[in-house]
Amino acid sequence: NLSSTVAEVNFASYILNASGPRCTTEAELHNLGQSESAAIMTKSCTLLAREGNPEPRYKALPQGSIQSMGLPNLGYKAYLDMLPRLTQYNKPLIVSISGLSINDNVEMVSAFQKSAADLLEVNFSCPNVPGKPQLGYDFEQTDKALAAITKFGDKPLGIKLPAYFDFNHFETVANILKKYPVKFISSINSIGNTLVIDPETESPVIKPKAGFGGLCGSYIKPIGLANVNAFRQLLPKEISIFGVGGIYSGSDAFEYLLAGADAVQVATCYQEQGTECFSRISNELSQILSRKNYQDINDAKGALKLL
Ligand code: DHB
Repeated sequence: NLSSTVAEVNFASYILNASGPRCTTEAELHNLGQSESAAIMTKSCTLLAREGNPEPRYKALPQGSIQSMGLPNLGYKAYLDMLPRLTQYNKPLIVSISGLSINDNVEMVSAFQKSAADLLEVNFSCPNVPGKPQLGYDFEQTDKALAAITKFGDKPLGIKLPAYFDFNHFETVANILKKYPVKFISSINSIGNTLVIDPETESPVIKPKAGFGGLCGSYIKPIGLANVNAFRQLLPKEISIFGVGGIYSGSDAFEYLLAGADAVQVATCYQEQGTECFSRISNELSQILSRKNYQDINDAKGALKLL
């Protein structure tokens, strides 16, 4: 039994899709509804529809992927309109919001207050819009943005964070989050502005931003585990944590569970394998838990054994 609770919302399992791959169109979201993903998470939306960056903008790599999609999406009103048609699957609906300014985020967070969304995940870490920095790396702006978007109603709100690499940064961010009614964090986003070069062609493997893009998949799992575990130690237990980054197997999910994640989100593996990955990873995690005699998934949560 992998049922989990995140931000006081019940999830039938521990594994759901991450915002990003295969969650932009209504057909893709219905596919997630019919799958064993524990929730339906949408692609990050902006005020207006976007085509995104020029192709090639996604490249599968031996142990992950690099992408610079540039927020292709239908515009938030399209998601507002389709949410009622996605309630039939009786699983949590999570809307990812990625405004290009604080005002955009305010408009969208306020618009989704009266929607069927169960959770709002506001993206503070998109690395791929040329000229736009990752909000989560600017602590003053992060504080300002949180103050602005937490003023409305009571739709549970969380933040998708970039990866941090320093204990001072973990502490600073945790202290900012504690000032606001943030119900969850999702950690981590792709590692921004990495460069993969093909020595044969002597070119980057993607076109936008001179080849600089977000690194995803197995390459970033140790970074995701560190971020989840650091924030689990620094944040009060009332703030839930989605673990994201390099989850392909039940063992990967189990490692995030030990680090303290309340549920995990899958991106590159879902992009590469399709909806079948949710049932496979869930079954693998169940087998690990029973082999290790964990009666309850909560007994392993955050139970990392230090040497
Ligand atoms: C995109 C990439 C991200 O990592 C993200 O958080 C949001 C958007 C993108 O390029 O579409």
